[in-house]
Amino acid sequence: MPIIQPFRRILFAALLFAGCEQSTKQNETTTAGAADSANAAKWWKEAIIYQIYPRSFKDSDGDGVGDLKGIISKLDYIQSLGVTAVWLNPIYSSPNDDNGYDISDYRNIMKEFGTMEDFDVLLKGLHDRKIKLIMDLVVNHSSDEHEWFKQSRSSRTNQYRNYYHWWEAERGKPNYRYSLFDVNHDAWKYDSLTNSYYLHYFSRKQPDLNWENPALRKEVYGIMQFWANKGIDGFRLDAFGFAAKDTTFPAFPKGYEKNFMAYYSMVPGIHDYLKEMHREVFSKYDVMSVAEGAGNSFEDAHNLVDASRKELHMAYAFEGVDIARAEGYSIPHFKKVFSKWDSAFAKEGWISVFLANHDQARMVSRYGNDSEAYRDLSAKMLNTFILSMRGTPYLYNGDELAMTNAGFTSINDYRDMATLNEYKNQVNQKADIAAYLRKLQFECRDNGRTPFQWDASAQAGFSTGKPWINVNRNYTRINAATQEKDPNSVLNYFRKMVALRKANPVLTYGKYSLVDPEHTTVYAYTREWKGEKLLVLLNFSDKPATVKTGYALDKARVLIQNYPTSSGEQLRPYEAVIYKL
Ligand code: NOJ
Repeated sequence: MPIIQPFRRILFAALLFAGCEQSTKQNETTTAGAADSANAAKWWKEAIIYQIYPRSFKDSDGDGVGDLKGIISKLDYIQSLGVTAVWLNPIYSSPNDDNGYDISDYRNIMKEFGTMEDFDVLLKGLHDRKIKLIMDLVVNHSSDEHEWFKQSRSSRTNQYRNYYHWWEAERGKPNYRYSLFDVNHDAWKYDSLTNSYYLHYFSRKQPDLNWENPALRKEVYGIMQFWANKGIDGFRLDAFGFAAKDTTFPAFPKGYEKNFMAYYSMVPGIHDYLKEMHREVFSKYDVMSVAEGAGNSFEDAHNLVDASRKELHMAYAFEGVDIARAEGYSIPHFKKVFSKWDSAFAKEGWISVFLANHDQARMVSRYGNDSEAYRDLSAKMLNTFILSMRGTPYLYNGDELAMTNAGFTSINDYRDMATLNEYKNQVNQKADIAAYLRKLQFECRDNGRTPFQWDASAQAGFSTGKPWINVNRNYTRINAATQEKDPNSVLNYFRKMVALRKANPVLTYGKYSLVDPEHTTVYAYTREWKGEKLLVLLNFSDKPATVKTGYALDKARVLIQNYPTSSGEQLRPYEAVIYKL
């Protein structure tokens, strides 16, 4: 079995955030829109989304696990960033096999995270600050500890039996299905209680829900309405591209797992489910929705998000975060990927722009340069990139400080179930474990999950107890408190860049055009809207570079720069500058 990097693959087909047509909430504000559909003003296009990984953000009670009260205590910090929406990873009841992506009760809060009262306080606190809340919704699968699954596995005739995918053993072993997280990558788990196998594309504790069953679908819409009625502003639909399945479970070609997205994602039926979800939920509330996975082509992506289809709102394609490699990556390829996604959505639909999330290692370690010399400069440059592209920017917590990869050297430091299962698999195969550990150092998602570095006190001010995963050892140098005091810190630059985007709608809606497209290390582009034109120059390398813009930069005004001065077309390592032309 080849080593498949589950998050890379899942990301490929991804399409996440999509919102709805209606905008009636009290804190609704949009910039006066332009005529065509991609440029029609919507709050979720103008949003600047800050993703919070609750387990690692702030612990209020010393149990080593971040919680809702912790987030509440940091609301002023979140507001100070200038972001306009928060996306929270799952906070529902869960046995935490996959850190909340295995939900045992969709209408309750995970004990470690707090209570529903805490949630209400958090939501109000965000709304009081004019910040919207987007919740993760995990309905391709539930936890095996959900009551539905407990009932479902109890007997073949139970009314919940068809909430999941079962295969009776007397029919023989079902055709192979690849599991992303299973130790043996086998997605069928035999359950002796009813002499049947159940399907789990992720871990054994994450059985896949059966979307063919109208009763299940109704339950899901009820859950979504429950949260929408509480006043949340959006849903991120986890792994939803996988929801539709050919339930005859035909044989797939040998080796299909190397390209499993082509078989798992966008199976017929998916658009019907999304249209139904739109009718039942999105058309009735002012919520934006995003399904993880953009399908397998631009056509799929458009079919998911073009407004006239009444499905989702915003594509969240993963090709861009799949480019980084431990040995370095091709900047021309990076430019090509982001340009191609921009042009594919120039007229219809809308995309997200991001370089990190909770399934990725740290942005500055993957796309920038985390050495002392260049960490801050390259993090500022990357944040300039995300916040100056067309599409809704998603910023992952800690990237505003240039938090770096963890540098774990032992498997005992890792907590991610998928990583630990793959480690066992590698051991079973007698693979090169040292090489696997090196690979994890660069790309394991736990790198992005170490505790938020608040200050230089013990445990980086994250917790008074022992954190569930070790704090990065560099917390005494990289932390929010230190950066607050420095006007030139990555944090304060981030705030300026967020403010610049908010003040310049051209950065949200403006036409994107590459400048000096063949340059091998500089990414340069203009953004143009309503007679205004900005030029963005980004040196993605640690070497000086000269770019040919064709503009008289000595006459242009600098709006932001990550060095104290700018010298036109001569760029220093990781220099970022935006000009108003
Ligand atoms: C995608 C999520 O982003 C990831 O964290 C999770 O492990 C899988 N879906 C399974 O829910």
